Amino acid sequence: MTRILITSALPYINGIKHLGNLAGSMLPADVYARFQRARGRETLYICATDEHGTPAELGAAALGQDVRAYCDDQHQIQRGLYAGFGISFDHFGRSSSLQNRTLTQRFAQGLWEAGFIEGRVTKQVYSNADKRFLPDRYVVGTCPHCGYNAARGDQCDNCTRQLDPVDLIHPRSSVSGSEDIEIRDSLHLFLKQTAFDGKLRDWITDKKGKWPVLVTSTALKWLDEGLQDRGITRDLEWGVPVNAADWGPNPAGERPDVAGLAGKVFYVWFDAPIEYIAATWEWSAAKPGADPASETEYESWWRGPAASDVSYVEFMGKDNVPFHTVGFPCTLFGSNETKTADGSWRPSSNAPWKLVDTLKGFNWLNYYGGRFSTTHQRGVFIDAALEILPADYWRWWIVANAPESSDAMFTWEQFQAQVNADLADVLGNFVNRILKFTETRFEGVVPAGGEPGPLEDKLHADVAAKLAELNEQMEAIDFRKATQALRQLWVLGNQYLTEAAPWTAIKTDPARAAVAVRTGLNLVALFAKVSEPFIPFAAEKIAGGVGEAYPGQWPTGEGAAVLDILPAGRPVAAPEVLFKKIENDQVAAWLERFGGPEPVEADG
Ligand code: MF3
Ligand code: ZN
Repeated sequence: MTRILITSALPYINGIKHLGNLAGSMLPADVYARFQRARGRETLYICATDEHGTPAELGAAALGQDVRAYCDDQHQIQRGLYAGFGISFDHFGRSSSLQNRTLTQRFAQGLWEAGFIEGRVTKQVYSNADKRFLPDRYVVGTCPHCGYNAARGDQCDNCTRQLDPVDLIHPRSSVSGSEDIEIRDSLHLFLKQTAFDGKLRDWITDKKGKWPVLVTSTALKWLDEGLQDRGITRDLEWGVPVNAADWGPNPAGERPDVAGLAGKVFYVWFDAPIEYIAATWEWSAAKPGADPASETEYESWWRGPAASDVSYVEFMGKDNVPFHTVGFPCTLFGSNETKTADGSWRPSSNAPWKLVDTLKGFNWLNYYGGRFSTTHQRGVFIDAALEILPADYWRWWIVANAPESSDAMFTWEQFQAQVNADLADVLGNFVNRILKFTETRFEGVVPAGGEPGPLEDKLHADVAAKLAELNEQMEAIDFRKATQALRQLWVLGNQYLTEAAPWTAIKTDPARAAVAVRTGLNLVALFAKVSEPFIPFAAEKIAGGVGEAYPGQWPTGEGAAVLDILPAGRPVAAPEVLFKKIENDQVAAWLERFGGPEPVEADG
């Protein structure tokens, strides 16, 4: 039996995320994790806040907080919001953990000693006023190409040309606005990604046709454009310190320049993916009675023969794909290679680390014509989303419109129409109709008696076919198609009730009415089970209405057995209103509050 390891891209610590962030990472990962758990598979869903880097430092400074205190607060805020959204992490960790520091330093040491890291002196911008080095994008000035006066040191937002901070005319710090900046030499470590070109190409080529085209084509494009060695250290205070003093010689017998590297930290994109592993260690260390130093349990998910039954699935937006198809795999490959006597590199006897088996990448979810934007506060952020509507409304709409094969667009009008139709008119109405009828005409218990007839036979066949489709699409991690199958399953319920019409039958043929009501109630129980990954809060209420455990097990039976869930005589009751319809005046107010159709250039 396969174990399922799931990770979703780690949200940056600074700032509350918007629906677009959730759409490509945590929400689909959660739906998949819930599905796999319901199927009875051992499942581990790991995520964490991505806490290092300049944005965290500046976010803390803006609030006058110490960075660690800032991260403590922001982590709790994000944790609460994801819980409100029903995201069922097995562990939601922090990239600033001790475990991540340990593993990041260990990976770097392994890479150095295997010869895959080298030092290079680079030119960095130093701000005397801010008393710090500035990453390229925090240097602004006039673009030498188009004259735009707020071009960033990495790119001009006006003419989109790539820039170097030294290209800018009148460069200044975007932190303080000071022009008192200078270029200083600074030693940094580079990961020799170029060494893995062939290995990466073989690996990705093998995934063609298995992973979304978006993912394999993005990865191959990077490889075709030529890999670059990548700087993996920064002149910052907040991050995992470079521990070069501990490192042994590289294969050429050289030791790192410890003095030159003093005070540097690893680049946030070096330590963040390692946190997938480290957060799994945080999870195993936090178990009751666990020895926090022991690495056996988390490693059984991540490396060597012990992890050979693990299927590892990653969820992320398309901007993250290069880091997960090139950067992180190089870290994993390189830390395992050792040099043989003939000078070639081969996997070491250390158990190799697990590479991702399935990488599910997403396009953008846009807000009207333009991007959701954190910088411009454009679109709907998850705190506001939860304030105005229950999580299930958002979950359903986002998953049903997942930006899988192309970008998707959120509009309030379409959101209102679809949520009202699917959740209120189809599912909510069905559950309410049959349960209310049972209350008034069958004393609120599952009726006994009567024999299923041709109508039920047909229903069993139709339900089995749709269930098979739903299973297949969920196994294929195809969310739009899965939600279509689920919606069609709900529709079958309404169609059946309309045809079986127990309210008519009860006047002339009580046994027929009993069969119809019993069948309808079993459909309710089935819907609670299969809807749970998508709309867990409503599924819990629905399950409660028919006295079923929550979360239930995914149905496995065939034919009539699929609808043989509830014993006759069991008390049932209609839940409080499942889904209130979204009204036009609400939409008007939200358009006012969140802004409507006016595409803006944005940063995501
Ligand atoms: N924080 C990054 C982002 O939001 C994602 C990091 S994913 C990880 O784009 F692999 F690095 F963890
Ligand atoms: Zn320009």
